[in-house]
Amino acid sequence: MKIALLGYGKMGKTIEGIALSRGNEIVLKVDEHNAGTYSDAELMQADVAIEFSTPESAYGNIMRCFRCHVPVVAGTTGWLAKMDEVKKECLENNQAFFYASNFSIGVNIFFRLNENLAKMMNGYGEYDVRMEEIHHIHKLDSPSGTAITLANGIIANLERKSKWIDGTQAKPGEIPIGSKREGEVPGTHIITYQSAVDTITISHEAHNRQGFALGAVVASEWLPGKKGIFGMNDLLGF
Ligand SMILES: NC(=O)c1ccc[n+]([C@@H]2O[C@H](COP(=O)([O-])OP(=O)(O)OC[C@H]3O[C@@H](n4cnc5c(N)ncnc54)[C@H](O)[C@@H]3O)[C@@H](O)[C@H]2O)c1
Repeated sequence: MKIALLGYGKMGKTIEGIALSRGNEIVLKVDEHNAGTYSDAELMQADVAIEFSTPESAYGNIMRCFRCHVPVVAGTTGWLAKMDEVKKECLENNQAFFYASNFSIGVNIFFRLNENLAKMMNGYGEYDVRMEEIHHIHKLDSPSGTAITLANGIIANLERKSKWIDGTQAKPGEIPIGSKREGEVPGTHIITYQSAVDTITISHEAHNRQGFALGAVVASEWLPGKKGIFGMNDLLGF
C-alpha cells in the first residue's frame, strides 16, 4: 500500500516502522511543520491515509481525505463532537472512513469482556462501578477515548447506569472516570465493581504503542476498495 501519514508524532513514527516492515510504502508524512503546505496532489498519491494528529486538526484532515477521495483510517481522540458530521459527509460523498478509539486487538477483546461483565451485573445491584485511566503526561485529552468507549459499553448493558462523568464524585446513575497522567504510560484502563463484601476488577495495560500501530496498519491494508464507515468490529469480526 502507498500510505500517507497525517500526524507524524509518537504514533505516526511507530506506525511508519510497522507499515514498512509489512512491505508498505510511505508516500507522505505530515506534521505541524508542513500541515499548511502539502498539496492535494501529494495526498492523492496515497492508496490510504492514516490519521493520528491532534484534537484540533483531525476533523480538517479527515475532510480533506474525503475531498481527495483517499480512504482514511483515523485514531486521533478528543474531536468526537464532530463525528456525526464526518459520518454524514462520508456517506453523502461515497467515501471510506475507518475509526477506532483504540486499534489494539487486546483492547478490543477487553471492550467485549467489559460489555459482558456489565450485562451480568444487572442482577447484582449491590455492586457499584467506577473507572480509572492512566496515560503519559503529554496526552492532550481526558478522559481517554478508550475510557469513553468502555463507559458507553457499560451504559449500553447495565440498566442502572445512564451517563459517565469526568471525575471521581458520581451520583447513583453515573459512572465516575478518574484520569491520571504519569510519566510515559502508554495506556492503562481499570474497571472496578465494588460491594460491601468484595471487589471485582478487570484491567488492560498497554506495554507500548506497537499494539495500537499494528491495528491501524492492518486496518489501512483492509480498507482500500471499500466504501462507507468501518470500525474494529468489521475488521476483527467480533
Ligand atoms: N486510536 C488509538 O488506538 C490511539 C492510540 C494512541 C494514541 N491515539 C491518539 O492519537 C493522537 C496522536 O497521538 P501521538 O501520541 O502520536 O501524539 P503526538 O503529539 O506525539 O503527535 C501528534 C502529531 O500531530 C502533528 N500535527 C499537528 N498538527 C497537525 C496537522 N494539522 N496535520 C497533521 N499533523 C499535525 C504534530 O506535529 C505531531 O507530530 C492523539 O489524539 C492520541 O490520543 C489513538
